[in-house]
Formats: sequence, C-alpha cells, structure tokens
Amino acid sequence: MNKLLLSFTLMAACVTVASSSVPVYLDETRTIDERVEDALSRMTTEEKVAMLHAQSKFSSAGVPRLGIPEFWTTDGPHGIRPEVLWDEWDQAGWTNDSCVAFPALTCLAATWNPDMALLYGKNIGEEARYRKKDILLGPGVNIYRTPLNGRNFEYMGEDPYLASMMVVPYIKGVQSNGVATCVKHFALNNHEVNRHTTNAIVDDRALYEIYLPAFKAAVQEGGAWTIMGSYNLYKGQHVCHNQYLLNDILKGEWGFDGVVVSDWGGTHDTEQAIANGLDMEFGSWTNGLSNGASNAYDNYYLAMPYLKLIKDGKVGTKELDDKVRRILRLAFRTTMNTRRPFGSLCSPEHIAAARNIGEEGIVLLKNDRNILPINPDRVKKIAVIGENALKMMTVGGGSSSLKVKYELSPLDGIRKRFGDKAEIVYARGYVGDPSGEYNGVVTGQNLNDDRTAEEIFAEAVETAKNADFVIFVGGLNKSAHQDCEDSDRAGLELPYNQDRVISALAKANKNLVVINISGNAVAMPWVKDVPAIVQAWYLGTECGNAIASVLAGDVNPSGKLPMTFPVALTDVGAHSVGDYPGTPRNDGSDIVDCSYSEGIYVGYRWNDKNDIKPLFPFGHGLSYTTFNYGKPSISSDRMAADGKITISIPVSNTGSRTGAEVVQLYITDVKSSLPRPVKELKDFKKVSLEPNQSAEIQFEITPDKLMYFDNERHEWVAEAGDFIALIGSSSSYIKNSVKFKLLSDTTNATNK
Ligand code: GLC
Repeated sequence: MNKLLLSFTLMAACVTVASSSVPVYLDETRTIDERVEDALSRMTTEEKVAMLHAQSKFSSAGVPRLGIPEFWTTDGPHGIRPEVLWDEWDQAGWTNDSCVAFPALTCLAATWNPDMALLYGKNIGEEARYRKKDILLGPGVNIYRTPLNGRNFEYMGEDPYLASMMVVPYIKGVQSNGVATCVKHFALNNHEVNRHTTNAIVDDRALYEIYLPAFKAAVQEGGAWTIMGSYNLYKGQHVCHNQYLLNDILKGEWGFDGVVVSDWGGTHDTEQAIANGLDMEFGSWTNGLSNGASNAYDNYYLAMPYLKLIKDGKVGTKELDDKVRRILRLAFRTTMNTRRPFGSLCSPEHIAAARNIGEEGIVLLKNDRNILPINPDRVKKIAVIGENALKMMTVGGGSSSLKVKYELSPLDGIRKRFGDKAEIVYARGYVGDPSGEYNGVVTGQNLNDDRTAEEIFAEAVETAKNADFVIFVGGLNKSAHQDCEDSDRAGLELPYNQDRVISALAKANKNLVVINISGNAVAMPWVKDVPAIVQAWYLGTECGNAIASVLAGDVNPSGKLPMTFPVALTDVGAHSVGDYPGTPRNDGSDIVDCSYSEGIYVGYRWNDKNDIKPLFPFGHGLSYTTFNYGKPSISSDRMAADGKITISIPVSNTGSRTGAEVVQLYITDVKSSLPRPVKELKDFKKVSLEPNQSAEIQFEITPDKLMYFDNERHEWVAEAGDFIALIGSSSSYIKNSVKFKLLSDTTNATNK
C-alpha cells in the first residue's frame, strides 16, 4: 500500500475515531435526522418541555446539560430590534445595538425585483447573525385586503403571486446566514382591530387562491425554517393552535418540517397547543418574573401545565417528541451549525443595499409636464413642506420599531442633493404627531409647534408662492391609527388636514410634487390639481438619499404599486360587501366574526369584477423614459395538459434615458365552471433598457398558471378551453393580448 493511500486510510480512521468519540448529535458529518434522533434520545421529559416555551421576552431554552444552545429571536422584518431586558418590552439601553433600517416590505414588493429581495434577505440576515439572533421574526406576507390595516407596511401587497415571488428570495437570503426566518402571521391576520378575537370566515377558494399562496411558497420554495401563528381565529380556533391551518394544511398538505412559533400572547389553551400544531410558545402575557412563581415563564401553557398532564398520565409524549424533533432540527440549522457565517452590522454594503432597495421601490404615480426630475442646475429656490419631510419613521409602528444608526430624512436628502446650487426653505404645513418615542427608543426630535394651525398653513402657502419648486412631503406615520400595529386607520383620507394644505399649495405654485410616505393607499381628492405624485413608502435609514436621487433624476424610478390605490373605501371589496372589521358574537365570548364576503375578489380582482376605475392601479408606476410594447408572438395557440407555450413580446425604450420596466403577464380563463377573476397576475419580468434598446421578453405558460382551486374537489384544476394572455405595464394598462387553448383538463392533486 503506497504512502499516499496509507495516509488517506489513517486520516479516514482518525475521522472515524473522532466521529465515534463525538456523540452523534454533535457530529456534523451525520445527517440532521440522525442527530435529531440521538439528541432526542438523550433528553429528559423536563428538558423537552423546557424547549417548548419562552424563558424570556425573546428567548427560549436549549438543553444546558447537553450543550444545546438557547434560541434568541428578534424583530423584525425591516431591521434588528434593540436589545431588551429579560422580561421587558423597553430597550435595555445598550450602546452597540443600533442597526440599519431597511425599507418597509411594501417598498421591497414595489421593486417587483426578486434580486432585490435576495439582497434584502442576505443583508438583514447578516445584521441578525452579527447580533447573535437565531430567529428573525419576519417577513410578513399577509395579503392587503383593506387599506385600513395598520400593518400593511410590513407586508407585500394584494397579489398572492407577487408576494410569493418576493418572499422566497428574502427567506433564502436570510437563512444563508444560518438565521431562521419566521414567516408571519400565518394566517388571515389581515387587519389589526380586534386582532386577538377576530374569527376569520373565509371560503376555501379565497383561502387557497389568495391568502395562503405566499405562505405556501415560503415553505415549499423558500424553505422557511419557522412560521409564526397569528393571533386571530379561524373556524373558531385560535390560529396559534389550529387543527386546520397548522396540522392539516401547513404540516400535512405542505409538508412543513420546521417550527411553528406562536405570536406573542397568541397561545390560549394547553391541550389545543399540544394537539393543534404549536411547537414554541412565546410571550403569553405572563409577566415573566412577577407572577409569584420563581419563574413565571413556567406558567406558560406549554410549560408546567403540559408537564403535569404528562406526569399525570393524561397525555402521552408523541406530540412532545414531534415538537422537540422540529426544534432540534432548527438547532442544527442555526445555533449548532458551526459553519454558518458571522454576519456584519451597519456595514457600507448594508447601507448601500437599503438605499438601492428604496430607490428601486419608489413609485412615480404621476408626472405631468414632466416636471420631474428637478434639474439641480435650473432651480434656484426649493420649498420643502410637510411634517413627513423631517419626522423620523423608524421609531414607532409597533414591533417593527427600530433603534437606527441614523435615518436620513427627506429634507436632509433634498438639502444634501440640491443645497449647493439652490436655496432650500422649509415650512411645516401641518402638525401631525410631534411625539417620538417607542419602547424606550427616542427620536430626539422636538416637533412641538406652538403656532396655530392657521399660522402654520399660511406660512406654508406663502413659502410655496415664493419658490421655483415645491416638494410636499406628507402621508401617514407610525402612530396609532396610522401605519401601526394593534390598530387600524379610521379612513382612507390623509390625516391632519393635509388635503387642504396640498390643494392650497397647488394653487400657490404650479411646480408641485407631492411625496406620499405611507404603507397604505390614501385618498387623493387633489389628484387632478397636482402635476407630480410620488409614492415613497417607509424607506428607512437611507430615506432622504433615495428620495433625492429620484427627484434629481440620478435614479430613474422603476417601482410599481403592489396594491391598488382606490378612489374611495367603498371601491374596496372588504368595505363594499366584506364584513370589515367584523361583527361581535354577543354570546358572552369576545369573538368577532369577520366574513371575507368578497371571496377571491381582492384588490384589482374586485375592480375588474365590478368595472371600478382605481385612482392608481395595481402594478402602476411611471418612468422618466417611455417604453413601447410590440406585438406578442406565441409558440403555439394550443397547449397540451402536460405542455407549455412561450409568449414573446418585444419591448423597447423609446425615450431618452435608460430605465427599467416591469412587463406583467395576466391570464384570463374565458369560460370556467366556477367563477374566476377577470384576470390574474401569473408572471412578470423587470428589464432595464437603454434608449432605443429593445428586448424580447418571454413568458413560459404551463397549465399550473391556468389553475384555480376547486373547493369541492379540494384540488387545483385547469379546465380545457380558451384562455387569454394579457401583457401589461399595470393591471389596467394592458398593451396586448393573445389567445390560446388548453386542450384537456388537468389537475395538480399534489399541489395543494
Ligand atoms: C407582536 C407581533 C409580532 C412580533 C411579536 C414579537 O405582537 O404581532 O409580529 O414579532 O409580537 O414582538
């Protein structure tokens, strides 16, 4: 045997010896399932139960005796929450836990660019990893059913296909750091009013076609390692322990192998938690160390009460072992994965990513007379008006609130970009919410203003009259009953009398752009009087730079709306026939039944069904250049049940500057046994083109893009017959269409 072979043999022997001397659960050469079984076999019942519930506000126990680490969770979807004390919501006052605030997820969705989602996930995952967090409590993908929902800014819009395409790369990016995502809030948490007691009544078609797809994609394509149950009820059971959603669908039909985490305080019953799919219980109102017990976390439903049922022989340990297997699998993917990277915090790369995502998510809604972009060399005096030009938006809004390294305001960004050549003057315009504190994080801004509303209004109008260009920055904010957790908006209108200010500014100066900062659609009664309107979302740390880049034309806007902007609330299904926010049972329980009577007709699906013209349609967004769509061609106008056809559309940049366009494919089922929306988004492609450049955009259409969920058969079906592929630059601006036929029925029994 030559020396080389001998040395390999010795090395292999060493590895074997090494492996054999290392317990299987610690041996990374073994499969995760082998390691799970070994660890499980070594654990006592007490150690198993201890893993199922919180030990502090944001952590749960490992197995100290076996060297299995505890889990540390952190909010939220846009950035890493500051450290808190063991059992407090308020920040602990550390000085090394400021973070980069990435744009809100509505902005990410508005990029319609899955590459941005991967960039986002990778970067926020690095921040979580560096802060030694194992589970990131995000992203959220609840569907935008009503523009009043306080938490829509944390989610990815009204369309299940867009949300599915954007959530998958985000998950992969985060988890590439060895940090688990916790996709939330599964499911049917579509508004905040009565969020703990709302019983969502939804038919199976709306459930499977609208509200579940993004979660299913997160599990089956994204490989999410944890899912957060939502506070609300479904079929009368709290969703944090729900036979239908957690056992039957998530773990049964979808094969989810990860951990179901409760929302904080979402657990209500030990036996339901045992039987109905909950694996880890967090934050059930037990005020940690002050409930008389040595450690009140032992009072949690999946803590001592569960252990007692086992010890008393009232329940077995089958469910316990399944929960612990999932938690151990999570450990080997995260805390016990020695090969995971080390992360980074507030790096130039993270700041650049925050800015790029923001710039790409900003939506140019209107630009009459092409008054945008503003030429920095041609404007002498710019008036910036509105509270949102300077109010910090990274503090507040609920659990996604952050302590940031910095937040560049729109006013900061405008001064930085235009201030060397133009005079920049500011006027408040209105007073919204001068406060600036959340969970012990203070903005340090003193936004108090003792003047009367009239004085503030008059100053704004006067300032506008004497400027070359007026930039109004308003919208909503992160205060209660605005874009904020645990409350909804009172109406579609802008608050704080902004409509009056905007209308007056439009009279005072024809060069006016309104920048709406919000996570929700708002009413715009002044829309005809304002030449330019920009939807700017909550852009986080780099907000001011992102907005200024677009205003100056350094960046050509390419964002598209991920939700419909209705003219009025009555134009929305949930408010026209739906039962928002629901009807109290008045049976002595606190349950509020909320019927999603609009069914599958959410967003543009409702507009199409009822021929309602939106203020701005789903998928809408302008550019500083123009695009032409040519005549589509089709590989065949007949599709076999197992076949596919390709549609090609030439798209060219007919303007004078490089820009990106999102070409959207919608499908119409001409005739179907069950009612279907007029059209549904089934693909999109974002393409950047230089002036006079053309590209052939191709879409592959396969039968699964033609399917609807047959609730009687409980499966996805595509029926033979005529279909139309519609190509558009938004759900309302259909440029071309082409017909084709599906030759025979097909189902996707496996695709639940
Ligand atoms: C909150 C939110 C959830 C958050 C959790 C921890 O109530 O619903 O999104 O991650 O509690 O703060």
